[in-house]
Amino acid sequence: MAAAYASTGYKVCLLDMDVYAPSLCSYFRKTPRAYLNDLIEGKAGIEEAIFKVSDGLNLKGELHLGLASPSKEDIQDIEIRHDQKWQLSALKQFLSIKRQLFSEHGFDFIFLDTSPGIRFWSINALAASDIMLMLMKISDMDIDGTKKMISEIYDSLTRFGSKNYLILNKVGGASPREEYNDPSSIATIEEEISRAVGMPVILSIPCYCDLQFNRHEYLSAINTPTHGFALKVKELVEKLDKF
Ligand SMILES: Nc1ncnc2c1ncn2[C@@H]1O[C@H](COP(=O)(O)OP(=O)(O)OP(=O)(O)O)[C@@H](O)[C@H]1O
Ligand SMILES: [Mg+2]
Repeated sequence: MAAAYASTGYKVCLLDMDVYAPSLCSYFRKTPRAYLNDLIEGKAGIEEAIFKVSDGLNLKGELHLGLASPSKEDIQDIEIRHDQKWQLSALKQFLSIKRQLFSEHGFDFIFLDTSPGIRFWSINALAASDIMLMLMKISDMDIDGTKKMISEIYDSLTRFGSKNYLILNKVGGASPREEYNDPSSIATIEEEISRAVGMPVILSIPCYCDLQFNRHEYLSAINTPTHGFALKVKELVEKLDKF
């Protein structure tokens, strides 16, 4: 999605705020000069921790990336070793970095990829956001978990003015069994889940099993622009652009 925004001409920054289980480092196969962990601790500057990955991608805009450290020690540091005083000063630093990325570095959008749940840095990522997109599958387990998340934290964040939307992922629409592809039954599921969870559904993305056939699935939204998945991401970008 970040790449899709960049392809339309925006300067976009994607930050791995899934600091307890980072995966964007292996997704992008990059080792940065410094990690976001160093940045929020004040041990590194923005220029060292955030770098451009869109050279050669032929995008109208730019995509920049900030990675969280995948090392066990760094994850333990951020999770348990640091005390509350450290966590608060790191949070202040994070909010100041966010401001600088917009004002001094000219970013149009910052994407914070985070993990579900109510751990310190997941909530910080949500609290720092203007728009929250929550992805879920349509299973009862996901519905119950999402409801719980919303009643515990999202409601209070919405009161501060952020907009929240659900994205239903891995729905029907591209199934070998036609009974799962009926658009009206997908629309009914959207309505039911939106009501059950108490948040509007902005988009449903079908489950495309061929996405799994790639050894290294990489920026599908721009690299396979005519694929159903890429078209859905494009639809999402267009919907959000209207707000
Ligand atoms: N609509 C889809 N159709 C088919 N496969 C999908 C779809 N959406 C996601 N996947 C696959 O599901 C897997 C997990 O996706 P993703 O990494 O986005 O999930 P995640 O919940 O963020 O995982 P993590 O907790 O590791 O960060 C990936 O292999 C991805 O290709
Ligand atoms: Mg993830």
